[in-house]
Amino acid sequence: MSKRLAILTGGGDCPGLNNVIRAVVFQAVKKYGDEVIAFEYGWKGPIQNITRSLTLKDVDHIFNEGGTIIKSSRTNPYKVEGGPQKVMDTLKANKIDALIAVGGEDTCGVADKLVNDFKAPIVCVPKTIDNDLNATDQTFGFDTSISIVCDALDRLHTTAKSHDRVLVLEVMGRHAGWIATMGGMAGAADYILIPEEPFDIKKVAEAIKIRKKEAGYAIIVVAEGAKFAEGEVLKDQELDAFGHVKLGGIGDRVAKNIEELTGFETRSTTLGHIQRGGSPTAYDRVLGTRYGLAAVDLIHNNKLGRMVSLQGIKITDVAIREAVGTLKTVEMTIYDQTRVFFGDEVRPKAKA
Ligand code: F6P
Repeated sequence: MSKRLAILTGGGDCPGLNNVIRAVVFQAVKKYGDEVIAFEYGWKGPIQNITRSLTLKDVDHIFNEGGTIIKSSRTNPYKVEGGPQKVMDTLKANKIDALIAVGGEDTCGVADKLVNDFKAPIVCVPKTIDNDLNATDQTFGFDTSISIVCDALDRLHTTAKSHDRVLVLEVMGRHAGWIATMGGMAGAADYILIPEEPFDIKKVAEAIKIRKKEAGYAIIVVAEGAKFAEGEVLKDQELDAFGHVKLGGIGDRVAKNIEELTGFETRSTTLGHIQRGGSPTAYDRVLGTRYGLAAVDLIHNNKLGRMVSLQGIKITDVAIREAVGTLKTVEMTIYDQTRVFFGDEVRPKAKA
């Protein structure tokens, strides 16, 4: 039986969102004869009843466009007076059979609460450049962001080499070091600092001295949420609607400390929102598309309250609850593999 579906994209945008939207509309309209509308601006859409229609024509050529054509925000209905009930009322008023919520930990966390509090008819699609969502092997957006980090590092290598400098690149990722670890590995970083392992700056400086001697220059990748042994660097103390502190600024501090401790000329670059912009990679286009197609199938198979999930090469589904609550931090065996490039690690003792 054909249905009336809605879709929203919440949280920080990322490349691949439009591929999900396109796939949802094609699958819904062509395979099931459904109708699809969007709630714009994430959860703000159903709170304030901000809708737009989504036709095949609207989504036909958005496959290579970054961002989201249906806008996003970090609105939390549970922080708005009567917010959850407003969401439910709007779904009813628009005769929505099922809502597809595309987002990360925060957006899916709201979906999970609505499912539990109101039996809301929701399925989720896992999104975030941070790759920190549980119960899926990968979120779309992550591959594009590490490709951008890799490209930035390629460029930093040539200028660092020309000037015999140490260059520090600060990357996003919030409280998980996936972008730093994978981007840093792809772009041959000489040291990678991640939130999962608070670092001793003196030890990093010693490793950089070794790499500088070996290569003439050195590159450090630092995740925005990485922690000095004394604690994380916060941009300011302001919290967003989901209670997250703003991170940022650690790259400058690392650069300053490294220069002081080593005497090497050191500069820092913050990649910032460049990591979230522009065209998705082929991998993210495919992953977003497969997630979108599967989300519509879930609804027609009456599997509400579920999130589509990548496991190995298969798209499967899990309870939304499994994905939220705790973050998927870096698998340390992967991080440990990068240590051989750090200068100070895995160094056989010189033969007597
Ligand atoms: O969650 C995605 C992300 O890009 C994080 O890596 C980063 O800390 C945060 O969003 C930045 O948020 P905003 O776009 O609100 O500055």
